[in-house]
Amino acid sequence: MKINAHTILCASLAYPNRTAKSPIMHNAGFEALDLNYVYMAFEPEKKYLKNAIDGIRGLGLKGVSISKPYKEEVIQYLDELDKTAEDIGAVNTILNRENKLIGYNSDWIGAVKAIEEKTSIKNKKVVVVGAGGAGKAIAYGMKYRGGQVFIYNRAMEKARKLASQLNINLGGDLEELQKMKDYDILVNATSIGSYPDTNRSIIPENILIEGRIIMDVAINPWHTFLIKKAQEMNCQTITGLKMLLFQGAFQFKLFTGYEAPIKVMERNLVQT
Ligand SMILES: NC(=O)c1ccc[n+]([C@@H]2O[C@H](COP(=O)([O-])OP(=O)(O)OC[C@H]3O[C@@H](n4cnc5c(N)ncnc54)[C@H](OP(=O)(O)O)[C@@H]3O)[C@@H](O)[C@H]2O)c1
Repeated sequence: MKINAHTILCASLAYPNRTAKSPIMHNAGFEALDLNYVYMAFEPEKKYLKNAIDGIRGLGLKGVSISKPYKEEVIQYLDELDKTAEDIGAVNTILNRENKLIGYNSDWIGAVKAIEEKTSIKNKKVVVVGAGGAGKAIAYGMKYRGGQVFIYNRAMEKARKLASQLNINLGGDLEELQKMKDYDILVNATSIGSYPDTNRSIIPENILIEGRIIMDVAINPWHTFLIKKAQEMNCQTITGLKMLLFQGAFQFKLFTGYEAPIKVMERNLVQT
């Protein structure tokens, strides 16, 4: 990769952000297509978030990925919202179109594509555990693709709000989750299982049933405690790598205009 005066900058903004894997994925894609782009990771503190967003305009960054904890807060600083991001209420992608900042959400696309590699979502019973940024987008995607969605979350108020916002079923809290065995697909969209909370799972083992599809959105590590337990129970498993990859492919096309070289990007992620 040669950086020169024409290099186009893309970035990820999150806090903390030093374990981000999107720079590996996007830079591998840019290199494979010989694009004069580079992708960096930044971690602005909350008090500097507005300055960071102004910096996208000021310095002319082309595209930015937004991660925890800024997916909702960032919305107030944007010029326009894609309809889907508006419906979800969270932005994970910003496109700078001639200094107009447009917010998108590609998390739901990543989750849908990752699951549809294994099975159709239409008419399936889908349990989503977690009502934060990831949970919201995944629940939206599952509903959009015709799934019958049940939302569970530690904080019931958030689950209740999301159920009413998306018109999906309120599953309940984590105690209720222990009784939920009647599902086809289960997604852990909480941060439990991710670094530093890696040696446990929030999904009770008694509801891991042979043949069912279990997805864990965790990025660090890919093979979480939950994924290992689900494999022991002969479930079909999907790691957060696939979701990251497919949501990243959408961003790549938005930022560059080119179809993402998925295989190259995946190969580089697998090695992390
Ligand atoms: N693979 C991908 O492409 C991808 C994309 C996006 C996010 N992610 C991953 O998804 C995870 C969640 O991200 P997010 O943006 O949704 O974060 P978030 O908005 O902060 O939400 C965190 C979620 O985890 C739950 N949680 C946190 N600590 C808990 C605990 N001790 N016990 C029970 N529940 C707990 C929260 O429940 P409460 O509401 O009760 O606090 C909430 O549902 C992260 O690991 C992130 O890296 C992956």
